[in-house]
Amino acid sequence: MSAYASADIVDAFRNQLELCKLAKGETVLIFTDPRYVRPEYVPAAFAAARTLGAEAYVMISQGDQMLEDNLVCSAWNNADMVLGMSMLPRGIGSWIYTETSNNALRSGARILMVQEPFDGLKRMFPNETIRRRGLIGAQMMEEAKEIRITSASGSDYVMRKDGRKGAYQCGIADEPGRWDHWPSGMVYCAPIEDSAEGIYVIEPGDVLLGLWRHATTKVKLTLEKGRIKKIEGGSDAYLLQDYLDSHGDDGAYRLSHAGWGTDERADWGSVGMDSESKYGTVLVAIGRNILDAPAKHCGMAGENWSTAHCDICCRNTSLWLDGKQILENEKFLIPDLR
Ligand SMILES: [Fe+2]
Repeated sequence: MSAYASADIVDAFRNQLELCKLAKGETVLIFTDPRYVRPEYVPAAFAAARTLGAEAYVMISQGDQMLEDNLVCSAWNNADMVLGMSMLPRGIGSWIYTETSNNALRSGARILMVQEPFDGLKRMFPNETIRRRGLIGAQMMEEAKEIRITSASGSDYVMRKDGRKGAYQCGIADEPGRWDHWPSGMVYCAPIEDSAEGIYVIEPGDVLLGLWRHATTKVKLTLEKGRIKKIEGGSDAYLLQDYLDSHGDDGAYRLSHAGWGTDERADWGSVGMDSESKYGTVLVAIGRNILDAPAKHCGMAGENWSTAHCDICCRNTSLWLDGKQILENEKFLIPDLR
């Protein structure tokens, strides 16, 4: 990689850190590890933070760190802002599902994940439209008690969410105790873990994000009392079953979060945050969901501690909140969500 790769992208990081209200004298911890896939982001963020007058630090953890030791925890807890540039800890998919991250948020840190390709960071740079759609959607989600999802391909399932938060992501972590992922545009909640009932169909072309691929075959999940009782279909059903069985805990067969994407700039051909963020698509994930944050409309506070986490992003799907249809085949029926 060119030695100029970091220097060329400092402006984008500075613009992002300004959106996150990074101020002179605040401390920024850039947390990374030797296997982080975008090493050029670390010096770019460091330089951008310095230009804003912040006190910047880089912590490079060993590649098998579980984010449990005192040094890591105290650094996260005491930073005004943490930039998570790491896929650690291995085995549970992401540091966002650790108590280390939850505790730092409780301590008032704002936390931003950055790991997508630079093309995505630019193309889906946060803006007020994505923030507005997210906030209004999260308010509606928070008030709702039941989510129903249907599709012409045969999905028809319901989930309860009584008392659970409604959350959104817009790519900006600008208040104490808020986390976000640059880039992203989504609304979601953690449904009650034993509540999902019905049939969840994944079509070819939908995204099995936990498997880092578009589905090429139809998959039918049967949900009973919140648990996936049956996985039927072709090769993708086999791969999904294998992924969940490889984790094997009870939560691996229960849902994690449910909601929709808000960003029309997302590219369905790019598997990652593009898949999760695509405007009008429905994302219902399986597995771990303990991410919690004190900021309003942030985090999930779910009770699924599984080591599995598989996001599944579906096109051509409809969604109801408490019996009121808000989404019909990727078109929002509520003007405020458009
Ligand atoms: Fe997820």
